[in-house]
Amino acid sequence: MTDAPQVSLISVPGQQPADGHVFPLVLACEPGSATLDATCTWLASRAADLCQQASAHGAILFRGFPVAIPEDLDRFIAAFGLKNFPYEQSLSNAVRVVKTPRVFTANEAPPNVTIFLHHEMAQTPIYPSRLFFFCEQPAETGGATPICRSDILYAKLKAECPQFAADCESRGLRYTNVMPAANDAASGMGRSWQSTFQAETREAAEARLKSLGYSWEWLPDGCLRATTPVLPAVRQLLDGRQVFFNQLIAAFQGWKDDRNDPSKSITFGDGTTLDRDAVNVASRLGEELSFNIPWQKGDVALVDNYVAMHGRRTFTGTRKVLASLIAVDE
Ligand code: FE2
Repeated sequence: MTDAPQVSLISVPGQQPADGHVFPLVLACEPGSATLDATCTWLASRAADLCQQASAHGAILFRGFPVAIPEDLDRFIAAFGLKNFPYEQSLSNAVRVVKTPRVFTANEAPPNVTIFLHHEMAQTPIYPSRLFFFCEQPAETGGATPICRSDILYAKLKAECPQFAADCESRGLRYTNVMPAANDAASGMGRSWQSTFQAETREAAEARLKSLGYSWEWLPDGCLRATTPVLPAVRQLLDGRQVFFNQLIAAFQGWKDDRNDPSKSITFGDGTTLDRDAVNVASRLGEELSFNIPWQKGDVALVDNYVAMHGRRTFTGTRKVLASLIAVDE
């Protein structure tokens, strides 16, 4: 078993035609055709091409490759030769458990919590260029990862709500969230301020907040309310595509827990409120355009974070989906 993996393009139900590129691209490996070593060699020799395809298509689903445990996944991802983006350094508000230097649990939020569509960490000034997801164990029911082409969503949003789209482009967005003084795994956004800002004291947290351009307020219960600087709502990619690169849908629908009220989570950059009807159009388009990754054990997905949004459906049973982030290309 030193041969290269036998890989073919396959179709899966629900795959979408999207601008001449099927979404997502699905590559299947003939089971038993290659070792992990041979797979890594194969990946390394095609890394640039695969990243290019992930950008064109939005995402690639790898099925049947010899990846079973977090350590295998770490090697699979390392083979791409891309720069790791460690969870500890991120400003993500999700609670996660680190498994290997590259791999951590996708989100520790309970099964009944929906995670709405978003670009990873687009609500912070520091975000990854790409994400890998890996299914170690599919849920009993539900638990798909919806993914959505952001360029297509934005083109449709622009057609339906031109004024809102223009406002998004010209004003940008600011996000506010309240971080607890200790990790709260019951929330999809329960990461403590200490963990988020890698700070043990308020002074250290404030120094980090200041350097990132945030404004903030300490609450009587020890929580931190932090507001980002103005961040873009729409980005133009190098190839000219415009993408709805933000967390508007997720913040408006889903940033809800004991500390957070979604209606206060997001405003335009000038502090004005978002048009609720237009936000609802964006959410509806996201739902209509989503492909639900039908997780099978061993599946790996590479998602281009600039091109595709992702979320998480509710589920029952035990679901083990791991994630890994790639830093922005230098
Ligand atoms: Fe995410």
